[in-house]
Order: sequence, then structure tokens, then C-alpha cells
Amino acid sequence: MRQASWSFHRDLPATEVWGYQAPGGVGLGYLGPALVTRRGTPVVVRYRNDLPATHLLQTAVDDTLWREVPGVPPDPPGGRNPQDFPALPNVWTVPHLHGGFDPPQFDGHPEAWFTPDGRHGPTYTTMPGARPNEVVYAYPSEQQATMLWYHDHAMAITRLNIYAGLAGLYLIRDEVEESLALPEGDFEVPLVLQDRDLTPGGALSYPDTGPTPYHPKWNPNFFGAIPVVNGKAYPYLDVEPRRYRLRLLNGSNQRYFHFWFQDGGARRPFWLIGTDGGFRAAPLRLTDVLIPPAGRLDVVLDLTDAAPGSRITMMNDAPTPYPQGGKDVPMPEIMRFHVTQPRSGPDPSVPPDRLRLPPLPSPSPTPGLPRRRFVLIANRDAKGKSTHLAINQRFFDDPVEDFPKVGTTEIWEYVNLSGDGHAMHVHLVQFHVLDRQRLDTKGYRAAYDAWIAGGRRPEGRPVLERYLRGPAVAPEERERGRLDTTVAQPGMVTRIVLRFDLPTGAATPATYIQHCHMLEHEDNEMMRPWQVV
Ligand code: C2O
Ligand code: CU
Repeated sequence: MRQASWSFHRDLPATEVWGYQAPGGVGLGYLGPALVTRRGTPVVVRYRNDLPATHLLQTAVDDTLWREVPGVPPDPPGGRNPQDFPALPNVWTVPHLHGGFDPPQFDGHPEAWFTPDGRHGPTYTTMPGARPNEVVYAYPSEQQATMLWYHDHAMAITRLNIYAGLAGLYLIRDEVEESLALPEGDFEVPLVLQDRDLTPGGALSYPDTGPTPYHPKWNPNFFGAIPVVNGKAYPYLDVEPRRYRLRLLNGSNQRYFHFWFQDGGARRPFWLIGTDGGFRAAPLRLTDVLIPPAGRLDVVLDLTDAAPGSRITMMNDAPTPYPQGGKDVPMPEIMRFHVTQPRSGPDPSVPPDRLRLPPLPSPSPTPGLPRRRFVLIANRDAKGKSTHLAINQRFFDDPVEDFPKVGTTEIWEYVNLSGDGHAMHVHLVQFHVLDRQRLDTKGYRAAYDAWIAGGRRPEGRPVLERYLRGPAVAPEERERGRLDTTVAQPGMVTRIVLRFDLPTGAATPATYIQHCHMLEHEDNEMMRPWQVV
């Protein structure tokens, strides 16, 4: 991890950014090199924190977040005791492989951070051979072909570390993928979609004042107005009239994209062939699709019949915040495709409607297991100012409450009592969305608050079923597949099915986490640990 110089646009000067570089300085400067492996071939990565001692976005670092330390009296509402962590380091980092089926000691736990000067967080672990400012992590890469991403995950500063550039792609290949005859080489294009704000001088800009008195710099919502794809603002790609495989990542802090390909007066259809964790059961023809923060989509865009000289624009109309809007920072265009080149050779790829994708097992919940419930609340003070977000009204450092057993399959319910759609992400597991159901949020919230105020007596726990309204609705067709991140819609219960297996190198109890992947939320307590036992 280094500070490097990078220009976001040919008309803008180079500025300082952060990124991962491979030995010999390989990498753009911003983001990191894509790591590519084959299924079953483990990858060992040595991550070194060579960043400066001062954060790139120093004025936005909010050191009122995350200050819970055992033995210190409980925090005031919405705030942390300033005395908890007097010597908070400035530049703490820890990498996580998002979507990876990885042992817990290499999962990049938020408190496993390390600094340029070799200080370590309380859960720091590494393979032997690391210097103090490094971790060495081994990724078994036993899972099927898909696109993961590695990014920073350090407690309470993830939003700034990723915003500065600490993110990169990780691709797993396998024989199934190779047998499909998909577009490959130059015709497989990874696209990291991000929203950013830039100063007139071309530098990254992030707000350094927030609306809450408790956390003077933290913002519950941040949306950049400038589309940045693979590190370039307002980019275009020269394409040939042939098929392309687009490997899309939403690498924004909290912006959702609802996109389509505008081709003249019409929307050009495309084919969805895979989601976060690998291929779908069958290609799905779409004219638009949603990608939440941290989500990945594997898409075939067939330009065989595109007119030479035509311009195809990837458009977006997802409201900010999603889905209710109200703090609108629109980003109507993400990027363009210029059909300018003659075809350089034959296109041997299979037309998307004739792709035979591998079957998708549908996991069935282990009989007799109770559902786990996670209540999502955006906490506010008496004046309506946002204090922090929470899962089950716990803080990240509160004791673990969820202990799924290895080899079992559970149903988890996200009960969203806030106004935002939260992009809920679970480490380790590729899950399936089961259904969603409307809820009387006011009624349930009153009962829930009363239950908490009364000390959470098990027998007094509010009965969720009393507050459900209408039938459970199956997920949209585009959501059918392996996911590690999904939208917990506001005013709804979102149910997912998760199977708990452990990779090579994991021992029980194995601690993982779940959180909202809207980074501003994750950084202010919308994150909880759980343990496979
Ligand atoms: Cu993409 Cu817990 O992270
Ligand atoms: Cu959230």
C-alpha cells in the first residue's frame, strides 16, 4: 500500500492517491493490480503498509468513532468516550478479500489492523515471515470461478481508505468457465465503478464536516457526483462490433447503480450470467439491473450488430440514498462505449442465449434451526441527528451472539426499521435470497424498543410475525444466484439462506463478521461479529 501519483482524467493534473502495488511498482497507483488464480491454487499475498504517517484524507478522519475499550464506562448515547483510545493511530489498514472463502486468520478482521510504523490492532494475525508493517495472508481459492475484490477493512476508517484507492480485483478461473466459450482476452473487461468528488485541481475530495454533534466529521451519507471507472473520470472504451464479457464491481462507498445501456433511442439488452459468487443457473436477458455497493455482476454485452461509429452509454438512475432518494446527487452517465474499430478477427464466443451454465444448487435450511434475526436501526438523537447505525442495537465490540454450527444451513432475517436500503454483506458465505416481506415498522419498532429498555428478557421478545403485512415475495429473477451482498429494503424483512462450511486452514471457533457495505454505515457500528462453531 503506497501513496502514488495519479490523474483521474487526461485534462486534470496528477494528484496523490493510494493504491496497492505489486513488486517492482506494478499497478496504476490508484486501486491495485488484479490478482488472478485458478480454483484450488492458493495465493499467498504479502500486504505491506508503506503509506505515509498522515492520512491522505486527514481532515476527514473522525477520531470520535470506535472508541470502546473493555473496562471503560459505557458510552454516552451515540458517542464514544474520548478517553477510550487516546493513542489512535492515523493510518491503520487491514486488507480483506471480499467474497472469499477464507480462514478467519486471513480474513482481515477490522481490528487486525497494522500501521506504517508497525503497530497492531488487538486481533492482528499473519502467517510467519511478516515484518511489523505487514501481514501475510494465504487464500485457499477453493471456490468456483468468479470475481472477488480485495479492499481495506480497517475499523472506523474503511470509508476513507477505500475512497483513497485501497481496492483491487481478484479473479478465480476454473474448467467450467473455460468450457463455456465466453469472450476472453481483450474482450473480457473488468470495470470498477465508483462515485468520487474531485477538487478543481483533480484531487480526491471527501467531506470533512458532518451533520452530527457526536461525530463532527462523519457523514451518514456520502455520494460523489463524478463517475470514475477503473480510476478514470467520465471514461469511454473503444469497442469492436462483437461480444464482450463485462466483469462489473460497484466499488462506491454507498451509491447503488441501476444501470442500462442506452443505444440511440433504445436500451440495448444484455445478458446476466453471474453474480457475486459465480455463475447463475442460466443466462438472463435484461434491459436494466441494480448493483448494490460491493456487488459484482458478470454480464455479456453483445455488440455484434452495433453500427460502426455508434456510441453506447451506460446510464444510471438509482436514487440517492437508495431507494427513497431525498439527498439527490444524480449520476446519470457512468461511461460510454465507442464502436469505432473494425472487428480484429472472428468472434469464437457462444451467443449468450445459447450458454449452458452449470446447475445452481439451492440450499435447504437445516430442519429445527430457529431463524436468526438482525434488526437494522439508524439511531438518532432527540433532535433527529444521526448518531450511529446498529444491528440488533449492539456495538461492534459487544460480545458475539451468533454461533452457527459448521455444516448447517440457516435462515437469517434482516428487519430493516430505517429509511435506507442497507447493502448487507456476510463474510465467508455465498448465500441465496429467500424472500422479502412488508412490515409494520412503527408497531414493531415500539415493541422492540420497549423490549430493549426492559432488558431483553427472552420471553418478552416481540413476535415479528404479528407485524408482518402481506405475503412473502420471492426475489427478483436477477437476484437468483450466489450473493454475498444484498439489499435489505426499508420497511421489509429480507430473508437469506446461508450454509456454513469452513475452508482449509480454518479452526473453530472461527470469527467472521457481517455489516452494511455502505461504508459510512459500516464505519459507524453497522457491523457485527459472528462465529462458526
Ligand atoms: Cu467488502 Cu466486510 O467487506
Ligand atoms: Cu447501511
